[in-house]
Amino acid sequence: MAQVPDAAAPLLLFDSGVGGLSVLAEIRKVLPDAPVIYVADHAGLPYGDKSEAEIAARVCGLLGRLAERYQPRLVCIACNTASTIALAMVRDVLEIPIVGTVPAIKPAAEITQTGVIGLLGTAATIRQPYVDRLETAFARGKVLLRHAAPGLVAAAEAKLRGQPVDPAVFARAAAGLTAQVRGAEIDTVVLACTHFPLVEPELAEAFGGAVNFVHGGSGIARRVQVLVGGQRFDRVTEGLALFTGKDEAVAHQLAPALADLGLHQIAML
Ligand code: DGL
Repeated sequence: MAQVPDAAAPLLLFDSGVGGLSVLAEIRKVLPDAPVIYVADHAGLPYGDKSEAEIAARVCGLLGRLAERYQPRLVCIACNTASTIALAMVRDVLEIPIVGTVPAIKPAAEITQTGVIGLLGTAATIRQPYVDRLETAFARGKVLLRHAAPGLVAAAEAKLRGQPVDPAVFARAAAGLTAQVRGAEIDTVVLACTHFPLVEPELAEAFGGAVNFVHGGSGIARRVQVLVGGQRFDRVTEGLALFTGKDEAVAHQLAPALADLGLHQIAML
């Protein structure tokens, strides 16, 4: 029988940076009292330009150490790049529920009217066989156009630190899809990187308000809610945000965005 977790055992969310906060925002809507530890691997950011081997080793190593130290009741890999590459490996090594974040191709295929779907992700995500499998399983008969938009990762990080972002970044990301053959027919865009929902209003403007955006956040929150169903929560301490790397100043610039989601303590790993 599965062990009943300690009431203070946290949910541990993991991303290369602040992207996973878009997932935490959805989890907070359904589990407002859950104790949360959010981990941003800023020392490894961005994951999108790394190799599969590098990402897998980094994510498995870090999550192994974090799980041992913080004894979470559940881990959410709130990162498409890490999930599409390392989800199965992490599940093999950790004995707690692991929820991943994978591109929301299924809901996009259900709502597209034109049958042409755009997908924005990191360079590492858009080349994954995992994405090919989702396309085959759920978007048969539709057209899925992919574009790597690494500039949006830095844009989301800057936005949450309260810094200005050049609108050309969003225009370039939109054009990367719309300039492709049949790109003008796109009516639905999958935000296949957790950083991207953080800049959805800017992207909507760049697409001229002509598309719907879909991402995995609310589906992940429902899955987490089911997995912890019936468990007690004791939010004894404030939420904790942990950052790898040395740039403590950057972590503290994020304090208002973190506090909005109940993460009132910041520490370096
Ligand atoms: N937030 C991550 C994702 O969902 C990736 C950002 C990065 O390149 O590190 O894919």
